[in-house]
Amino acid sequence: MKSFLTIVSLFFVLVIVVFVEWHLDTPGRADQQRSILLGGGSGTEHRVEAVGRIKVESVVENDIEEAVESSAEQSVSVEVSSIDGESIYNAGCVACHGAGIAGAPRVGDIDEWLERVSAGMDVVMDHAINGYQGSKGMMPAKGGNPSLSDDEVKAAVEYMVAASQ
Ligand code: HEC
Repeated sequence: MKSFLTIVSLFFVLVIVVFVEWHLDTPGRADQQRSILLGGGSGTEHRVEAVGRIKVESVVENDIEEAVESSAEQSVSVEVSSIDGESIYNAGCVACHGAGIAGAPRVGDIDEWLERVSAGMDVVMDHAINGYQGSKGMMPAKGGNPSLSDDEVKAAVEYMVAASQ
């Protein structure tokens, strides 16, 4: 009786092991069966090929989109940095600010610039863009060059302050 029970329980263990093994292998078997299915029949191969091609094209398209996006970003950053404060300064402001003509604060004289900047960068920018009559002299609006944009004047001021430090 005891040996019969042992045999029965061994049989159950065996069944469970086979059952588990079979299910563990299900994905592999499914793959195998699919490849057998896809491999046979003439029309199937064509369909599979077409799917493959569409995939490749969409990847290429994505690459192009990414390339276009990144080049767009690049041109934006080029645009932003295309305002060159130094060359704007050299084209006009230097006439008075280079040597400190007519009371203009000289670029390179950090004490003079610190005094002005301490009044607030907003005031300094406003004076440079709109011009003003100061105690030392007269700063013409945009240095006398109305074709400059506000941002270009600001870039020039930033350069002048930075170059004085
Ligand atoms: C015709 C001479 C002249 C030119 C050209 C000129 N400036 Fe001035 N600028 C002055 C004078 C003079 C002052 C000082 C006025 C004062 O405080 O009495 C001054 C002051 C300034 C200040 C200080 C403002 C403040 O609040 O203290 C800035 C900034 C400035 N100029 C920027 C510029 C820029 C930028 C340009 C070129 C786009 C330029 N200037 C061209 C004469 C000039």
